[in-house]
Amino acid sequence: MAMKDLADKLVALCMKRGIVFPSAEIYGGAAGFYDYGPVGVILKNRIREFWRSEFIVKRENIYETESSIILPRIVWEASGHVAGFTDVLVECKNCHLRLRADHLIQDTLNIVTEGKTLDELSDIINEHDVRCPNCKGELTSAQKFNLMFKTYVGATESSETEAFLRPETAQSMFLDFMRIQDAMRAKLPFGIAQMGRSYRNEISPRNFLFRLREFEHMEIEFFVHPDQKNDVPDELWNKVENLEVLALPMDLQEKEEPPIQCKGSELFEKGIFSCKWLLYWTLASFSWLVRVGLDPNRLRLRQHMLNERAHYAADCWDIEFQYSFGWKELQGIADRTDYDLKRHTEFSGKTLDFHLAEENIKVVPHVIEPSSGLERIIMALLETAYAEETWMDEKSEAQERTLFKFNSYIAPFQIAVFPLVSRDPLVERAREICTILKDNNFWNIYDAKSSIGRRYRRVDEVGVPFAITVDYQTLEDSTVTIRERDSMKQERYSIQDLVEYFKKQLQFG
Ligand code: GAP
Repeated sequence: MAMKDLADKLVALCMKRGIVFPSAEIYGGAAGFYDYGPVGVILKNRIREFWRSEFIVKRENIYETESSIILPRIVWEASGHVAGFTDVLVECKNCHLRLRADHLIQDTLNIVTEGKTLDELSDIINEHDVRCPNCKGELTSAQKFNLMFKTYVGATESSETEAFLRPETAQSMFLDFMRIQDAMRAKLPFGIAQMGRSYRNEISPRNFLFRLREFEHMEIEFFVHPDQKNDVPDELWNKVENLEVLALPMDLQEKEEPPIQCKGSELFEKGIFSCKWLLYWTLASFSWLVRVGLDPNRLRLRQHMLNERAHYAADCWDIEFQYSFGWKELQGIADRTDYDLKRHTEFSGKTLDFHLAEENIKVVPHVIEPSSGLERIIMALLETAYAEETWMDEKSEAQERTLFKFNSYIAPFQIAVFPLVSRDPLVERAREICTILKDNNFWNIYDAKSSIGRRYRRVDEVGVPFAITVDYQTLEDSTVTIRERDSMKQERYSIQDLVEYFKKQLQFG
């Protein structure tokens, strides 16, 4: 399927089935903002829960937090975002359309712009006479644009009341560092985790859920002793060292060579990763993404080039996904060193450090940060799971369906329940089964309208992995058929075994 077709079909299906649609749609939509419908909300929650299960519940030393979205200017001065959280824009002198200079150059000239200065970007635009894509007007020279949304707290608009919507959840985890380590009696290494909305005033939001102005971050700030950045315990390392990955370190990118395929452990043994904790979090994130349902062959690890690293990062790797519009960042894993804790100590006058009781000394921990955006995961998942199938049925009639092949534990609705016909006592039995399933916390969807075939097509379109049909045999022997979405195979099960069966099928993998 052509990639453009896939993107259009995904958007159409997401809107039709209440997964996600533009915010303020009746007013023409608001670029970079999306609302989640009932199916999308469950999908989001499912991914959140899987993340929480993997990175918080199953570990002893990662603590979840939830903090303010709006924080005063001083925080963002300390973090470096006021000075440096910028993209480069150009403006059309005629229609005043504002565009991201690097995107414009890449799209029109296919020139890589990573690390180019303002003057260099302006020169490329002038030399190639790049014009406004809207009206062919002349463009201004390139200038920096800060991506943070500014507001004022309280009734007075002044420099003292200036505040910003957070562009990352990370900063609060540094601000709350002392509180949390004390409250949890934490020992190094330990992590603080947060899921929550972040805001970036992107110059040109695009590619559906990929580049948004409001999105959800899932971040962990993992604090390690500065001299123990390679001390990953065996029980964690054993789970990731044999993962097969594609990796693109800096030197291969410089030579324009393809990625290497190797085992996770080789990336440390060969000195490709600067420290083992950075590699551990990269591999653990990779493994989780595969279990969310992403194709491992469409994932690769790419090291940031020196000139693209954030101001706080000593090293940074992206997990990239091969979206329909190219290999793009899905998640970043950065070695933030002690940059943030030291900057907040400097700006607030409050010391942020860790007391090592045995040695009776204080250290400023280093931070390894796996940071991902929930919407980019959803976008990658939708692209992976979308399928169109055609086949001949037993009457040699052509059949077709569109479906999402979500993992059973990620799928929004887990089980569909259908009475064969919309009449009692079949309806009554089907309703009873819905109640049993709901009482056991399974999300199910009841449907009695139109033919069974059409009901299957409807639930396939939202990726429901199992469908139960109550038929006349049910009334005789208390069995039902369970139809499995991908294979379309049907088998009979006793109603009394359903809960156990689904518990096994739907537990997080
Ligand atoms: N705290 C570090 C940080 O925020 P980042 O690379 O700027 O690092 C991390 O962002 C992740 O957040 C990205 O890998 C991506 O998944 C997501 N993200 C960033 N900007 C986004 C945007 N405009 N729309 C959607 N997701 C975004």
